Amino acid sequence: MPPRKRILMSADKSTSWSYAEDLPAEDEVLLHARERSFELGVTPVGPGVGAVLTVLAAASKAQTAVEIGTGAGVSGVCLLRGLGPQAVLTTIDVDVEHLRAAREAFQEAGSPANRTRTISGRAGDVLPRLTDSAYDLVFVDADKPGIPGYVEQAVRLLKRGGLLIINDALDKDRVANPAARDSTTVVLRQVGKSIRDDDRLASAMLPTGDGLLVAVKK
Ligand SMILES: C[S@@+](CC[C@H](N)C(=O)[O-])C[C@H]1O[C@@H](n2cnc3c(N)ncnc32)[C@H](O)[C@@H]1O
Repeated sequence: MPPRKRILMSADKSTSWSYAEDLPAEDEVLLHARERSFELGVTPVGPGVGAVLTVLAAASKAQTAVEIGTGAGVSGVCLLRGLGPQAVLTTIDVDVEHLRAAREAFQEAGSPANRTRTISGRAGDVLPRLTDSAYDLVFVDADKPGIPGYVEQAVRLLKRGGLLIINDALDKDRVANPAARDSTTVVLRQVGKSIRDDDRLASAMLPTGDGLLVAVKK
């Protein structure tokens, strides 16, 4: 039996997935940021993705990070908690209400104002203004149709050894279902394959949350 078949026949992982998603213990700051997210109609990263973001930010020793899709700051707080004390998070959102809520979350997390640069605008307009090869980490969590363009911008922005992280990369299990052909799923399926095949990147798909695609710029 070819190895791929054996992988497909392995046990149902949903119990372990739910366990892993519930395992991180979130404090009042994150719970409050989640509350604000729901009030604003924003879907924040789940606790599992939040924990992975903190670990990756810390493990990479990133000093400069870009976030595309600030929301009300849940993922930003998780990134800031992994980034070093001198590191700066540049976070972009098209919605000023979301940015205001995120600034409150960063303040409640005890993050000094000079550690975050919040930029209001469409990512497609803002990213081209950021400097080449100046960032250690780029996290993408915004509009799905924009992702192919954000990936190209991220590769330009990242230093060698820098990390690209894309949230919702498995699109609620739809990417894995060949019968799912809606435009968002098709974009995410193509993004996963093009990153896998991109010689500039080494990548892995983590099943955390709705899928977290991580890649390192070689
Ligand atoms: C899923 S939410 C981000 C949640 C956030 N990362 C968190 O975990 O708290 C997506 C965000 O992307 C923003 N957004 C949507 N399209 C955008 C665009 N073209 N440029 C910048 N931000 C955009 C939305 O306003 C929204 O706040």
